[in-house]
Amino acid sequence: MSYRVVSACCLALCLIFAGAGMIQAQMGGDNNGEDTKKEEPKKDEKKGDEKKDDAKKDEEKPLTHEEFEDLMDDIKTAWNKLKINARKKMGDKAAEAADEIAKLAPKILRYDGKVLEGDEKGKKARDQKDFKKWVEELKKQAEDYSKNAKKSKWDKADEAKDKINETCGDCHDKYEPDDDDD
Ligand code: HEC
Repeated sequence: MSYRVVSACCLALCLIFAGAGMIQAQMGGDNNGEDTKKEEPKKDEKKGDEKKDDAKKDEEKPLTHEEFEDLMDDIKTAWNKLKINARKKMGDKAAEAADEIAKLAPKILRYDGKVLEGDEKGKKARDQKDFKKWVEELKKQAEDYSKNAKKSKWDKADEAKDKINETCGDCHDKYEPDDDDD
């Protein structure tokens, strides 16, 4: 046998193996009869509120009355900054203020005050569904505001701004104790 015959045989064998491999692969792929693409869930958007348990313990400690008033003052400062910069159409600065509100919002859940009236009177305000909902809403709308203000999408930003304002008012209407000493 000449070397040509040998190499021709080798080549033929290679082709047979390669062909068999392809057929096998194709049959595997055709198992279901259709070509379904796997949809992998995107994990690009990480949730900001997914925090380590350790950090959480400390973060959930109730605030003293004074600490809570400081918190609300900080939120009010950020809110004023947001409104001023919104008026001046300073998107980045307004967004910065909104980011601050979004960052502070979860701390409201550490309010140690009580429900003032109704069936739940005397229970912890922070355990109430609507209280938690308003905190969540404040954070969400502040994030929304920030996103839109950065892009100077003022229509959408203004919508979010109105909703921020609503959460402040709604929560205060129900949970802020009246103090008559002005
Ligand atoms: C989920 C409930 C909740 C939301 C939302 C909320 N607050 Fe408050 N806020 C309170 C409570 C409760 C008090 C009363 C605290 C007290 O007197 O014990 C308060 C008090 C305040 C005070 C008075 C603080 C002081 O020194 O007496 C200011 C100012 C304030 N909030 C601003 C805001 C602003 C601005 C927003 C929205 C951007 C807001 N709050 C959103 C619950 C909330």
